[in-house]
Amino acid sequence: MNGSLSRRLIQRTTALVALVTIVLTVFISLANFQILQQQLDGRLEAAAGRPSRSDSDNNPSGPADPAGSGLIRIDLFTGVGYKVMASPDGMTQSLAEQLLQLDAGAAPINVELPGLGYYRLLVRDFDRGRTVVALPYSDVTNPLYTQLIMSGLLTLGAILVSYLGTRQVVATSLRPLNRLAATANQVSALPLARGEGVVPVRVAAADANPETEVGQVGLALNLMLDNVESALAERHRSETKVRRFVADASHELRNPLASIRGYAELTRRSSEALPPDASHALARIEAESERMSALVQDLLLLARLDSEPTLDLRPTDLTEMVLNAVDDARAADRERHWSLNLPSEEVIANVDPHRMHQVIVNLLANARTHTPPGTHVEASLRKEDGWAVVAVTDDGPGVPTEIQDSVFERFTRADASRVRQAGGSSTGLGLAIVAAVVGAQGGQVGLESRPGNCRFTVRLPLA
Ligand SMILES: Nc1ncnc2c1ncn2[C@@H]1O[C@H](COP(=O)(O)OP(=O)(O)OP(=O)(O)O)[C@@H](O)[C@H]1O
Ligand SMILES: [Mg+2]
Repeated sequence: MNGSLSRRLIQRTTALVALVTIVLTVFISLANFQILQQQLDGRLEAAAGRPSRSDSDNNPSGPADPAGSGLIRIDLFTGVGYKVMASPDGMTQSLAEQLLQLDAGAAPINVELPGLGYYRLLVRDFDRGRTVVALPYSDVTNPLYTQLIMSGLLTLGAILVSYLGTRQVVATSLRPLNRLAATANQVSALPLARGEGVVPVRVAAADANPETEVGQVGLALNLMLDNVESALAERHRSETKVRRFVADASHELRNPLASIRGYAELTRRSSEALPPDASHALARIEAESERMSALVQDLLLLARLDSEPTLDLRPTDLTEMVLNAVDDARAADRERHWSLNLPSEEVIANVDPHRMHQVIVNLLANARTHTPPGTHVEASLRKEDGWAVVAVTDDGPGVPTEIQDSVFERFTRADASRVRQAGGSSTGLGLAIVAAVVGAQGGQVGLESRPGNCRFTVRLPLA
């Protein structure tokens, strides 16, 4: 019984029942009071019937209340004197005289008699005297108290029953709602961004019955999930189509490119002296077609990693791999200072050695192409909570802030003028390949960059 809705429902229902029973009790008690008092007044009227002249006995002529009823009756005959016809214990003569002095009224009144408590009293004048009759008011209050106690107990009972009943009903009727929430939570935990977009979770048929309010929500949730599923499937289909297209196109481009490069080479070899213009053009054709081959190679690799990441995962020593890659970089570039920071133990991770080598080479190549000569570059490797962490840090200008968020996306690169200034050819696919390869191996990539300190990190699960 958690959640504010059920608490509110229970509280409000119980409060409503309490209010209704209390109002009912008040009205019933008022009515009961009226009835009891009218009955008492009726008995008073009856007891105040005409007195008989015969003063020999104690019996008034009117219908008398039975003995022990607490009736007081005093008859006064003008010029003769008064006589107490009926009285309870404790009635005194002075009290009787006092009562005879009271102002006569048509209606009964309430009086407190010393030593006797509250009485309902009626004074009747007649031609030769007056009669005073009184009956104990407890005839009204006692039954009223009993009734009030009974009603109070009933009210408490009704509140308790309604509390327990509503609790039960609310719990039962909200249970399907909890099941809907559980289903929604299950869906939100699904990795929908990947895969074919199958949503294998639905609200059970019993909770999707449109004849109940909760069922309507359940049905709407199921329809929404159907819709999401078909949208995801559609997206997956079109993505697959695009990927296949890119893969096919890259593949088909390789042959004509190889031909262009082959013919260019052939032309250079076969003719002894080309005019300088033609020789320059030929050099450009060779350079650009080489660049395009590399680009096509990258695109093909990315398309493959997207659709069917066929990686050859095996436990590999990363220490050796980093060491070799830095040696190669040092040999290729003598203008920067290359250093290593390797652990003494070996670090074995489950990776595709060929692709992982490419990752490190790409990071080192970036440190070479996007920094000025004289930059210090450090490649490091360490173990950290179950991860192998490879980091390439340089003290160059850093990745421009405007592309830092998207630097691992395809074709993200600093603006062309800066690249040309650095004298490099840049496609913006290098880090996308890094991210795709590392992701396919179950790892993560990261970047921290500010001028003078630019660090790319790759985390891979240890074998
Ligand atoms: N070490 C670095 N220092 C400064 N900027 C960097 C560094 N590494 C990457 N960058 C920036 O990130 C961009 C993207 O890098 P990425 O490797 O993806 O592409 P690229 O190097 O431009 O082209 P290529 O596909 O040939 O690698 C670069 O263009 C560069 O602006
Ligand atoms: Mg690069």
